[in-house]
Amino acid sequence: MASHAVGIDVIEIDRVREVLRKHPDRFLSRVFTPEEVAFCRGRVPELAARFAAKEAMMKALGTGARSVGWREIEVLPDRRGKPLVYLYGGAAARAATIGLEEIDISLTHNNTFAIASVVAAQRIVETPPAEARVRLLDRLRLRGLLK
Ligand SMILES: CC(C)(COP(=O)(O)OP(=O)(O)OC[C@H]1O[C@@H](n2cnc3c(N)ncnc32)[C@H](O)[C@@H]1OP(=O)(O)O)[C@@H](O)C(=O)NCCC(=O)NCCS
Repeated sequence: MASHAVGIDVIEIDRVREVLRKHPDRFLSRVFTPEEVAFCRGRVPELAARFAAKEAMMKALGTGARSVGWREIEVLPDRRGKPLVYLYGGAAARAATIGLEEIDISLTHNNTFAIASVVAAQRIVETPPAEARVRLLDRLRLRGLLK
């Protein structure tokens, strides 16, 4: 079954500024590739937008931050400034597993927030929605949250 994968994320730029102030080296080296660090040149809105981009991409991969590394998702502009996504390691493997293709991303930031949105074609749907719903309802019943 073919489908689409989407992901969205918003982050407060001041939150990123604070992490950057407290742990500049650790934050930059853990979350961003050297190429992203070079492109952003310490500009906090740009770093925040890329952080949001990674989270949005993790949502499109359906994993969240658990099984994908931050630096396995890289966002760099083309020669016109349009951001492009590059996947490595576990993120690339996950994308292959669910047949993710034609990944596209859009970023925005103002003084307060940075937002990223990802859309892609997904060729392989692991769990059809109807099956996912039944599984969720079973779990909710088991926990006594649903009759
Ligand atoms: C999903 C994730 C990537 C983002 O979560 P978040 O930024 O904490 O929270 P958000 O509000 O942006 O996203 C939550 C939504 O993500 C969605 N989501 C959760 N798991 C998901 C998954 N596996 N795939 C796709 N979407 C998922 C859900 O819809 C959830 O909302 P809901 O619980 O109301 O349904 C999370 O896995 C994560 O761990 N983030 C790391 C956060 C972090 O390190 N922050 C540091 C900031 S400096």
